[in-house]
Amino acid sequence: MADCNFKIQDTSSIVSPGLVVFRDVMNANLAEMIRQAGDVNRLRPHCKTHKMAEVTRIQLALGITKHKCATFAEAEMLAEAGVKDILLAYNLVGPNVQRAVAFMNRYIDVTFMATADDAAMVEELANAMSAAGQTIELLIDLDSGQHRTGIEPGEAACQLYQLFHDLPGITPGGIHLYDGQNHQTDLEERRQAVMACWQLAADFRDHLESLGLSVPRIVAGGTGSFPVYATITDPALELSPGTNTFFDNNYGRMFPDLNYTPAARILTRVISRPTHDTITVDLGYKACASDPDLTRRVVFPDLPQAEPVLQNEEHLVLRTDKANDYSPGDELLAIPGHICPTSALHKSAYVVENEQVTECWEVSSRDRWLTI
Ligand SMILES: Cc1ncc(COP(=O)(O)O)c(C=O)c1O
Repeated sequence: MADCNFKIQDTSSIVSPGLVVFRDVMNANLAEMIRQAGDVNRLRPHCKTHKMAEVTRIQLALGITKHKCATFAEAEMLAEAGVKDILLAYNLVGPNVQRAVAFMNRYIDVTFMATADDAAMVEELANAMSAAGQTIELLIDLDSGQHRTGIEPGEAACQLYQLFHDLPGITPGGIHLYDGQNHQTDLEERRQAVMACWQLAADFRDHLESLGLSVPRIVAGGTGSFPVYATITDPALELSPGTNTFFDNNYGRMFPDLNYTPAARILTRVISRPTHDTITVDLGYKACASDPDLTRRVVFPDLPQAEPVLQNEEHLVLRTDKANDYSPGDELLAIPGHICPTSALHKSAYVVENEQVTECWEVSSRDRWLTI
């Protein structure tokens, strides 16, 4: 756990609700991620959690050269921050086909890859790439049980991967597997489930290689499965956690074995004390992710018993027997339940070091598109 008191000496510059990144805590999380990976070169962290060029530059300075993203805005942010190896772990359809061409034409010194799980999609991409004189590496997206995207390993998956080899404009980039279903709190249970996913990918890789197809990498996992994948020494394996850079309260509850601390918090102010046992703060669901249940959206370390009873766009009503201790203007620091969509709700983040606000970092790739 990072040693940080989460104090801010002068909050007068912080417009609330304000996203605050405690830099020492984030640094400790990054150090823990590298320690767990065993070798910085095994990492391909997902930028969806922070979406910030400054965080990317800090990761680059730590030697993290391979990066993962889910949108072209994130890919552009990564490339502008200096990343030369980018996996867009998303299947390209519609305008994203030409956006891939434009991205590769602009960032000629960046290795740019995407995922695919469908032959027609791959053919369209191959046509666009070869017409532009470009070749994109594609990773086959394997479905290991989440049933969000991907194809099950088997004959159809082999044929698809063969297309990556045969079509002009495409080259085989390996296997992608995101096992977001592996959220078992018990580490041993999680280990068994993650190892079963790994076995699927490794067996599929062995089969493809036996057919003479190259499988340069297997990109696998998120924060929960990371400690398990990290124990596997296969040289093709790249580890792709995202949330652990900032971390959040719901992962903290779900994965007690992980040694990360929520580094990004929200400064909020009391704006009303409507009844004897409630306070209202300026932390509506336009400032924190509302995909968790109301009771799991935010927690307040200084008011642990506070019960969220109502949240609107710009208001959060908390029931607490300490309501009398608070007056309008008083401040609280909240830990988001789910940080990734929370950071996307903020234009920028206040950075705190040694109890001082030192910088403001733009959350640039929260937008759907930047210039491409
Ligand atoms: C494809 C993909 N890879 C990696 C991650 C990172 O996972 P986590 O948020 O558990 O760190 C995600 C998260 O949604 C994801 O969708």
